[in-house]
Amino acid sequence: MNDPNGLVYNDGWYHLFYQYYPDDIVWGPMHWGHAMSKDLVHWEHKPIALYPDEHGLIFSGSAVVDRQNTTGFGKNGETPLVAIFTYHSMEGEKEGRTDFQTQCIAYSLDNGITWTKYDGNPVIPNPGIKDFRDPKVFWHEASSSWIMALVAGDHAQFYTSKDLKDWKYMSDFGKTQGAHGGVWECPDLFPLPVEGSEEEKWVLLISINPGAPNGGSGTQYFVGDFDGTTFTSQQQEPKWLDYGTDNYAGVTYNNVPSEDRIFIGWMSNWDYARDTPTQKWRSAMTAPRKLSLHQVEDDYVLANYPIASVGKLTSDMLLSSTEVPAATSATLVVDGLHQSEIQLKTASKNMKLLFKNNRDEVLQIQMGLDTVKVDRRLSGQVDFQKDFGARIHKAPIVLPKGELRNLRVLMDWSSMELFVNEGLLSITEQVFPTEPYDTLIIVNEDSQHPIIIESIKKMESVWQN
Ligand code: FRU
Repeated sequence: MNDPNGLVYNDGWYHLFYQYYPDDIVWGPMHWGHAMSKDLVHWEHKPIALYPDEHGLIFSGSAVVDRQNTTGFGKNGETPLVAIFTYHSMEGEKEGRTDFQTQCIAYSLDNGITWTKYDGNPVIPNPGIKDFRDPKVFWHEASSSWIMALVAGDHAQFYTSKDLKDWKYMSDFGKTQGAHGGVWECPDLFPLPVEGSEEEKWVLLISINPGAPNGGSGTQYFVGDFDGTTFTSQQQEPKWLDYGTDNYAGVTYNNVPSEDRIFIGWMSNWDYARDTPTQKWRSAMTAPRKLSLHQVEDDYVLANYPIASVGKLTSDMLLSSTEVPAATSATLVVDGLHQSEIQLKTASKNMKLLFKNNRDEVLQIQMGLDTVKVDRRLSGQVDFQKDFGARIHKAPIVLPKGELRNLRVLMDWSSMELFVNEGLLSITEQVFPTEPYDTLIIVNEDSQHPIIIESIKKMESVWQN
């Protein structure tokens, strides 16, 4: 699988559709796979929602609850769920045409289980742009209309509609702003309050491949304003949602019952997604994360942090509060470390966390004054692809008042999700140790501040065989 698609809440259920090729463990003719959850953490697999057909493969897109039946798809008072996706015509691509991606819709009247494709597709034909895809649609209350963000090669475009069928082009954004090392993909546009103020800003997420700060695929964001027609942002330089190499194509939920803006990303990277040393499964989604916007010095920073139900997966205490004094280190053998949540409280700006197994495979996180480095070069299997273990990944730390307060790590068999200061910085990385990590070495190289390990807790599995 790859990108999350059609993230929408309806009638007590969170839907997670996703790019899926059921017949192999590498990318192929795309379907929309489907899973449903009550809490975004425990999921039930559902039948495939959308199959490719004579018009093409089913690429990424979104889903909305058409509460007012603007489409007329709802018959006896039913509320339609409407999926908006890209058809990708393989024939068109092979013939060397540029118009092989179009925007299309399908609807479901049984809360997402079965789908009917609209017979008036495409709802947006291709204007002659090769990469023209990944529609994200949301209901815009202020203009009583549907708004769509999509990507068109090196920029985003915005469209408006009253009925999800008839779309009008409004504006574009980004040709000369942000990162352009690769094609733009998977946009998302939404408002967020600026924490601790009365201000509201709009955030545009744009995935880009290649061109991420640590190689391959990554997600940049822009903070700005949206007036119902045009998105504007003063920002010239890219900002990155996650500095790890394994958080891509992430978007947020429509129609959630709370005010929360909930994000899920695909935990892989096109550099090596086809090559990771796994069987039976191939890549996963990130933990669901709540997005929030913060003013840090003169800048806006988009934080992402696991939603509360992720924390509820913790169970047995594997290690309770322990102090690592200034200029010392601790070697902790923790049975179950490979499926755990680690919480640290600290002001130490100079430390290393090493996750090790008895084969001396080690994943290292190094916190410095203004940079975090993650080194997975010796983390286990790395040579399945040349870029995976090629270099140390680096992230700048922007901290309010320069304060490092806490670190949280979600460690799983094949992944590490690091959150600094409640997600002001996040780093998501896949790892493939040949034995589970069972030893945590904490090296406190700060001569003044201790590190407090608040807890290491077991995380319950959400996987049902
Ligand atoms: C992003 C992406 C999308 C596209 C889909 C195809 O990973 O390339 O732009 O719709 O994957 O699977």
